[in-house]
Amino acid sequence: MMNNGFERLCSGIEGVDSLIEGGFPYPSVILVAGPAGTGKTTFTQQFLFEGAENDEVGLYITTLSEPPKWVMHYMSNFKHLNKEHIGKKVLFRDIGNLVRNATAEELLDYIDEEVAGTMAQRVVIDPITVAKVFLGEAYRPFLFDLVNRLKNWRAVSILTGEVSVTETYPSEVAYAVDGVILLTYQEADGSRRKYIEVLKMRGTDHRTGKLSFAITKNNGIVVLSGNF
Ligand SMILES: Nc1ncnc2c1ncn2[C@@H]1O[C@H](COP(=O)(O)OP(=O)(O)O)[C@@H](O)[C@H]1O
Ligand SMILES: [Mg+2]
Repeated sequence: MMNNGFERLCSGIEGVDSLIEGGFPYPSVILVAGPAGTGKTTFTQQFLFEGAENDEVGLYITTLSEPPKWVMHYMSNFKHLNKEHIGKKVLFRDIGNLVRNATAEELLDYIDEEVAGTMAQRVVIDPITVAKVFLGEAYRPFLFDLVNRLKNWRAVSILTGEVSVTETYPSEVAYAVDGVILLTYQEADGSRRKYIEVLKMRGTDHRTGKLSFAITKNNGIVVLSGNF
């Protein structure tokens, strides 16, 4: 889709595309950050399955050493995600071991080969922040190399960032990427409300401010119209 000179790839999330001029700039690398349980993984799955509906290949790379079987198990609970795409248009890779044992260069080479081999237009690394502990000093240069390589493949990539409740976003990642989307919670009247906010989106006249969202079994993440 052409829009203001940029090709864009729709997010697959009701209410997100309208915040960012129709979709993510293509190619680009986007950070989706937030504390545990805010919906980062759900966000990335909707993004990949939306692509699959449009016949695009999506590559989901987990750093958690979670058997892909479990990721798929939880994902298949969402009614709108078509399970037929699993293993065909939505591919899973587990780099848990690699992240713990490999050098930054080896990690980059592996990701490069997988993106090239699968010809994925949509790539997810969930969560990227795990690499910080294992790469130490090499983490920042790794992030810059990763973003550059992913963009060379002409894909839209989402890196997720797990943060503690006292931290808003992982600044090292936010600095390297083209777009930042924050997912947060807020206590209100004894319940926890979830909010989504586009913090940065290069080349895009995006909406600012927090909007509330819900996670539903039928539609996954749904952005609500008000900021209540
Ligand atoms: N099938 C579902 N129906 C409704 N809500 C769900 C469903 N699956 C997950 N959720 C909600 O999403 C939350 C977890 O989202 P997830 O994407 O795993 O978060 P994160 O990756 O940020 O830790 C759950 O705690 C729950 O509130
Ligand atoms: Mg997650």
